[in-house]
Amino acid sequence: MQEKLALEAIYEISKVLGGEPVDKSLPYVLRLLEKLMGFERVTLTMVDPEAGELVVRATSNTKAPQVSFKKGEGIIGKVWKHGIPMIIPDISKEPEFLNKVWKRNIKGKIAFMAVPLKVEGKVIGVLSCDREYTKKESMDDYLRFLNMVAGLIAQHVRTWQKFRDEKRALEIELKRIYSNLKIEGIIGKSTAIMEVLENVHKVAETSATVLLMGESGVGKEVLARAIHFLSPRASKPFIKVNCAAIPENLLEAELFGYEKGAFTGAYVSKKGKFALAHEGTIFLDEIGDMPLPLQAKILRVLQEREIEPLGSTKVIKVDIRVIAATNKDLKKLVEKGQFREDLYYRLNVIPIYVPPLRERREDIPLLIGYFLDKFNKEYKKEVVIEPEVIDILTRYNWPGNVRELQNLIERFVILSSDGVIRRKDIPREIIESVEKVEAAANVSNTERKLPSTIELMEKEQIEKALAESGYVIKRAAKLLGMTPRQVSYRIKKYGIKLP
Ligand SMILES: Nc1ncnc2c1ncn2[C@@H]1O[C@H](COP(=O)(O)OP(=O)(O)O)[C@@H](O)[C@H]1O
Ligand SMILES: [Mg+2]
Repeated sequence: MQEKLALEAIYEISKVLGGEPVDKSLPYVLRLLEKLMGFERVTLTMVDPEAGELVVRATSNTKAPQVSFKKGEGIIGKVWKHGIPMIIPDISKEPEFLNKVWKRNIKGKIAFMAVPLKVEGKVIGVLSCDREYTKKESMDDYLRFLNMVAGLIAQHVRTWQKFRDEKRALEIELKRIYSNLKIEGIIGKSTAIMEVLENVHKVAETSATVLLMGESGVGKEVLARAIHFLSPRASKPFIKVNCAAIPENLLEAELFGYEKGAFTGAYVSKKGKFALAHEGTIFLDEIGDMPLPLQAKILRVLQEREIEPLGSTKVIKVDIRVIAATNKDLKKLVEKGQFREDLYYRLNVIPIYVPPLRERREDIPLLIGYFLDKFNKEYKKEVVIEPEVIDILTRYNWPGNVRELQNLIERFVILSSDGVIRRKDIPREIIESVEKVEAAANVSNTERKLPSTIELMEKEQIEKALAESGYVIKRAAKLLGMTPRQVSYRIKKYGIKLP
């Protein structure tokens, strides 16, 4: 056996094995054995643990026949069973040789070799091949060589299997986490939304006050409802108060209720929202818009858990869970004196920030699909959206977040006449906004042109040479292998300071 060739073959094989996933590289490796080493009908069988059989996985031929071996069956089955290499000098004279994989038309003296693929002492497969029989010593050399190759392959298969197993375990784990976190009616797979959902699950078990923050339309209200319905209070009321929508003079009565005759027009007494939310959850939406005088009263409820209806002298104990939401920066409002600091700290027990849609774009196609389904059902239509449209919508910045997206899809479904949404159906403002934002991004990219690594390295080299040569440009140029002119030019270009 030519040793140089064998070495070269090993080198080539390890290169191929290292460069590609093992399932792709194996047939190529077997072909290399054929081409470089003169082996023929190279076959790799691997143990299929489920079937308990040895199955042909790859051959030097393009097609691998569907053949399998039981333990101890034929020569290949014996190598599996005993874990040692075997050589049959003349297959025509070997009754145990089954000719199962290749069904050769045996002519002349053909030798057959088979070696085990071992991982931690266990046989995971068998590598086998034919070779024209020459004299005994060189056949032993070939067997040894084949054994080496089998070792190489076994190592790679093992690494690959380990990697695949780990990947699968990770996928299962992720799926488990995701399905545990999933909340009906809340769509999203981004890490951002998963983090939010994780916090929602955590706080749902408690009665702690939650402050939901985020732009308008990001889903603060759906999340507030989710917290309530995942909590032990789920069967009790969820009462929403929109602090921005109710006029200041009515808000107090709305929240605390009133006794008959408390003010003109109060013909009957009325329960306030706090009382209605007893044992359940009160959702104070747009809390940043609550007028300052009312903030003091809310603070009292949060501290004492009691309310005093207008025109009443009785105080009523309430057991409520408070969730507040705002699209404003409450801290800034506190600084400006528009929001009470003490109320801010009362509310900010568990803050949950819901990121805008443009910061979790991978959720956009998902939401589009979800709303499309929803409105198709609602309007009994079968509208589809072209991929190009989804692409553009995914790049849009969605200032109105999920609400804006939801409205657009509803409009698509209602207005579509031929059942297909195309680019021309997208509102102009959206297309223009996408184009404007992306054009601006491109401009700033070219303007910002940073110095390349090579330039930085050159600058450093020149500085070093200058320092070494006592800042004599001529000497530095000699050190650098440049002309003094070239060095001067670069000193200027890089703004290098000379002492
Ligand atoms: N992740 C989501 N999955 C499905 N629908 C959502 C999601 N987030 C928001 N929505 C929907 O978008 C709309 C606006 O959400 P909402 O909770 O009212 O936002 P916010 O209170 O932050 O302004 C609602 O119709 C809501 O059902
Ligand atoms: Mg809202």
